Amino acid sequence: MKIAITGANSAVGLNLLTHIAATGDVSAIAGVRSQKAADTLPVSPNIAPQIIDYANPNKLAVSLAGAQCVVHLAGILIEGKGTTYESANVDATRSVVDAAKQVGMDHIIFISVLGADENARNRYLKSKGDAEKVVAASGISSTIIRTPILFGPGTAGADALVRTVRQGKARVLGGGRYMMRPLDVDDLSQAVLGTARRSPKGYYTYELGGPEPMPYRDIIQRFASLMGASVEIGGIPIWLAKLGAGVTSRLSGGGISPAVIDIITGDERIAKNADGELGITLTPLDDTLLKIIDAEKVDL
Ligand SMILES: NC(=O)c1ccc[n+]([C@@H]2O[C@H](COP(=O)([O-])OP(=O)(O)OC[C@H]3O[C@@H](n4cnc5c(N)ncnc54)[C@H](OP(=O)(O)O)[C@@H]3O)[C@@H](O)[C@H]2O)c1
Repeated sequence: MKIAITGANSAVGLNLLTHIAATGDVSAIAGVRSQKAADTLPVSPNIAPQIIDYANPNKLAVSLAGAQCVVHLAGILIEGKGTTYESANVDATRSVVDAAKQVGMDHIIFISVLGADENARNRYLKSKGDAEKVVAASGISSTIIRTPILFGPGTAGADALVRTVRQGKARVLGGGRYMMRPLDVDDLSQAVLGTARRSPKGYYTYELGGPEPMPYRDIIQRFASLMGASVEIGGIPIWLAKLGAGVTSRLSGGGISPAVIDIITGDERIAKNADGELGITLTPLDDTLLKIIDAEKVDL
């Protein structure tokens, strides 16, 4: 089967493409926005890089034609100049859905986030909820996978962890007392590939988290100890960080905002984990952390 991937150069996209390159039965149209991004994609006979334009659904349809399933990954947590939640998370989804309708796509897989809700006060969660609604209204069979923070080589979550442990004496938001449920990005890729192959009819929303809920400060300690290192964790008051982020994000037109801090420091809760329904076995957290240490050659 052939799948089309938007945001193929994202951390999730690169991981998914690595899995696809190792399969014998799946090929991918790897959609990116620039040649520079295309140059970062894994090279494989199964992968066809494609420069795509979200501003024009008709052109996007031509780019995605031939795939039976589109995996929509393009999206942001941190806004920048000219990239807002509305444009990156909602408008881009609308274009992908329009294009998918034009080419008679069988299935849409959309990676959303825990807590996505069109009525949320948090603008990021609202934009993901709005995007889910656009997918739901498509009339195309769709699978929404809401995830917590993703861990694995190349993810923003892993980068932050490595930076924190390298500091030796780290100051983290709220002392890292919020609960996280990190999901191994390899597990997400397996869930996406399995779902694409099954191509279920209808509309499904799943929450998929990692096997061990744990406060962030404990994850930092666990990561450090797996490296044979130690780290002292201090706290930055969340209210102070939000005050500063409010000023700097307004002045610079993007970056870490109070909404982003609320996401980072919010407890990640899952009512019913979908690993069984999605047919995957979750990777133990220690194995995920060891993969990060190995791949990023973390050295203190
Ligand atoms: N990473 C996590 O912990 C996490 C957690 C929950 C959900 N998710 C979701 O999973 C998906 C992949 O996440 P990721 O962390 O792998 O992403 P990422 O590495 O940050 O990459 C973001 C992708 O979105 C594209 N993009 C940015 N602005 C865009 C715009 N205005 N229009 C169209 N495309 C745009 C980027 O393209 P350019 O390179 O061209 O800018 C890039 O391909 C996202 O939808 C994210 O919300 C991620």
